Amino acid sequence: MLGHLLQELPMFFYYWGIFVLVVTVVCQRAWNLWHYNINSYSEAGIPPGNRGLPFVGETLHFMAAINSPQGVYEFVRSRRLRYGRCFKTRLFGETHMFMSSMESAKAILNNDVGKFSKRYIKSIAELVGPHSLLCASHYHHKLIRAHLLSLFSTDSLASLVQHSDQLVVEALLGWPRHGLVVIQDEALQITCKAMCKMLMSIETGYELETVQREVGRVCEAMLAFPLRFKWTRFYKGLQARKRIMDILEKAMNERRNGSAGGHQDFLQRLLAGNDNKFKDQEVRGLTDEEIRDNILTMVIAGQDTTANAITWMVKFVGENQEVYHNLVKEQLQIANKRESSHLTLEDLSEMPFASGVAKEALRMASVVQWFPRVALEDCEIEGFKIKKGWNVNVDARSIHFDPTVHDDPDVFNPSRFHAKSNVHGFLPFGVGGRSCLGKNMAKAMMLVFLHRLITTYEWKVIDHDSSIQKWALFSKLRSGCPVHLTSIKDINKTA
Ligand code: HEM
Repeated sequence: MLGHLLQELPMFFYYWGIFVLVVTVVCQRAWNLWHYNINSYSEAGIPPGNRGLPFVGETLHFMAAINSPQGVYEFVRSRRLRYGRCFKTRLFGETHMFMSSMESAKAILNNDVGKFSKRYIKSIAELVGPHSLLCASHYHHKLIRAHLLSLFSTDSLASLVQHSDQLVVEALLGWPRHGLVVIQDEALQITCKAMCKMLMSIETGYELETVQREVGRVCEAMLAFPLRFKWTRFYKGLQARKRIMDILEKAMNERRNGSAGGHQDFLQRLLAGNDNKFKDQEVRGLTDEEIRDNILTMVIAGQDTTANAITWMVKFVGENQEVYHNLVKEQLQIANKRESSHLTLEDLSEMPFASGVAKEALRMASVVQWFPRVALEDCEIEGFKIKKGWNVNVDARSIHFDPTVHDDPDVFNPSRFHAKSNVHGFLPFGVGGRSCLGKNMAKAMMLVFLHRLITTYEWKVIDHDSSIQKWALFSKLRSGCPVHLTSIKDINKTA
């Protein structure tokens, strides 16, 4: 009897396994159907979308997209196609809506009636710090933004242009006269050095290397699951943040006790504002924690974004020969009539074609793909009901590729910016009270890089793969855009 039972046991597990499988599939289907219906049609005006499994929502799909060659935006793109210009989902335990029309961008980003505040997912908020203006409440944000805004003057822009030009020229001296460079790597070195100098006068040595390395780790951790185990990406990001904070704290102490003086950087100006400028005014200065978190925020906001924008721009120009030739014409003219050895702000203002190229690259790259906000009260936009507490994301990439906003949106056409465009149809830097503080600096760095590349080398993009880097918060080319260079001097010599 026992022998018989033992013989039958494998068959019993076999049938039991099939039964469990069938029940699971049926339950999953039923759940999906029920959930889809509930979420899509139960209440008029509630945006369509699948909020996924209980608690987890669609977080696993989101993480899968982050880890795919199409990048995290694939999660949004596929749902935009399925549900239309507005959909909702559930990520990290919260409801998220994505909206992709100019009208919704205007209503949400202008936020005149104070219905929305900015909100990043938990991992990002922890990494940039509780005092960063990216995560600050309405009042707190106003205070910090006012302090930071005063730093972004024309003088700061002019010295950034001069310094980044110097950095590009130095970098180009180290490039082969005939050979290969990866634009992403080169651009990141340059933008990181430019940011470190402008913000805290770090130019060389251990501190520069540490900031370069650790900022990379913080950026990599931004989309990670916020788990604090030693081996997790998120934990490593937090550790990296701590090391940058230590460097900043040391710099602040040195400046206060007079062992490091004479700096003309953002850190110094924030410290001076803190110690003197606002003493007798109602506006208070920034605390040390606020200064540290916001210097880190500016490094993160400025270096990777600008390097990515430069990389995409080089790729787009390299793949559009007519644009390339027009650029060569414009840039050689400027190089020939330039009086000083370094580029100035005035030189940049005489580059209308290159400006169009930078803008078009920003549109097509959409480096920051959507802008996150949270609804502070129940409201309605374009007939879609939004509940208090929902995360509402403005899908800028979708607007940039909307054929009703831009003719032939898939074509790289710098001339489209000759005509006046709708401010809510071109959103690389956002608009309104939370728009990018560094937009002029970013555009200036793009133009400087382009000018030097175009006037020093003839070059060809040698890898046309458009796959996206996994785990990247900002849209980033996986290939890094390798180009083959030939020095123009060598070409002229042999001609
Ligand atoms: C191509 C390069 C850049 C791109 C595409 C970019 C894009 C953006 C976007 C889309 C936002 C947020 C808009 C929103 O949520 O409404 C933003 C915010 C910000 N950016 Fe940039 N940015 C770039 C470069 C820079 C640079 C160079 C700096 C500083 C040196 C900078 C500093 C900031 C700051 C401080 C904020 C926060 C503003 C606030 O919340 O009030 N960005 N940027």
